Amino acid sequence: MLGLGTLARVANELRRDITAVHDRDPAARGVGPAELLATWPGIQAVLSHRVAHAVHGAGIPLLPRSISIATRALTGIEIHPAARLGQGLFIDHGSGVVVGETAQIGDDVTLYQGVTLGGTGFATGKRHPTVQDNVTIGSGAKLLGPITIGHGAKIGANSVVITDVPPNATVVGNPGHPVRVDGRRPEGPDADWIHLPDPVAEAITGLASRIGALERSVSELSGGRAQPSAKVRPLRPIRGPNPAGG
Ligand SMILES: CC(C)(COP(=O)(O)OP(=O)(O)OC[C@H]1O[C@@H](n2cnc3c(N)ncnc32)[C@H](O)[C@@H]1OP(=O)(O)O)[C@@H](O)C(=O)NCCC(=O)NCCS
Repeated sequence: MLGLGTLARVANELRRDITAVHDRDPAARGVGPAELLATWPGIQAVLSHRVAHAVHGAGIPLLPRSISIATRALTGIEIHPAARLGQGLFIDHGSGVVVGETAQIGDDVTLYQGVTLGGTGFATGKRHPTVQDNVTIGSGAKLLGPITIGHGAKIGANSVVITDVPPNATVVGNPGHPVRVDGRRPEGPDADWIHLPDPVAEAITGLASRIGALERSVSELSGGRAQPSAKVRPLRPIRGPNPAGG
């Protein structure tokens, strides 16, 4: 039986979910709670997950997955019934969002469309990310494995994140790497992800210079005129502004 305490908790969660949409979705300004509940897929998915999660926790078979799969058909958002969601989760647009079985999401987290909180393979046990409070995850970002995304972090659209993210960091790219931590560019020898050494170009340059030397020797021995040897240009500039500031 549902007690008064449970009803109060559900009402509080619902209020917080609706506030999250009003706060974080400019398109929801001026839209009433009834319209949000009827037409915002992110809210629908979170609400139905809360029901599926409670039914799953009660050990009832079939129903939790049925709720989850019906919600996916309706909203394009697939959340495993066992996943743990905090309060104030806002999923914008929704389509293509996948939240795995052992994922944990803290309070006031924002997910855009196409976000995956997934596993890296066939491992069992805790295999999905833990996302702490106030994290924003951009559209298309893939967060894979039992990693932790620190409080207040931002994950750029289309990033692929496979390692822990420090609190208050901005992570972009594939593989995802911090470009800001506490609002400052990371510094140090490993911070420049753009101007990396190019071992293939270096090997080709070495070979070209040896061929040039051989051609000169052959020309001298045969009394002919040495041809200018082929010049190898680097594939990208070695110098330039460091996007990570290091
Ligand atoms: C990452 C993001 C949250 C911005 O965070 P921020 O802390 O304000 O960071 P900045 O805008 O200062 O960008 C930091 C650096 O990352 C780069 N960057 C930002 N977003 C990026 C992305 N998605 N992919 C690659 N690089 C990105 C910026 O160019 C900048 O580079 P610089 O250091 O050379 O100047 C934002 O760019 C983003 O991707 N948001 C997702 C929004 C979204 O999915 N919207 C969908 C709405 S439907």
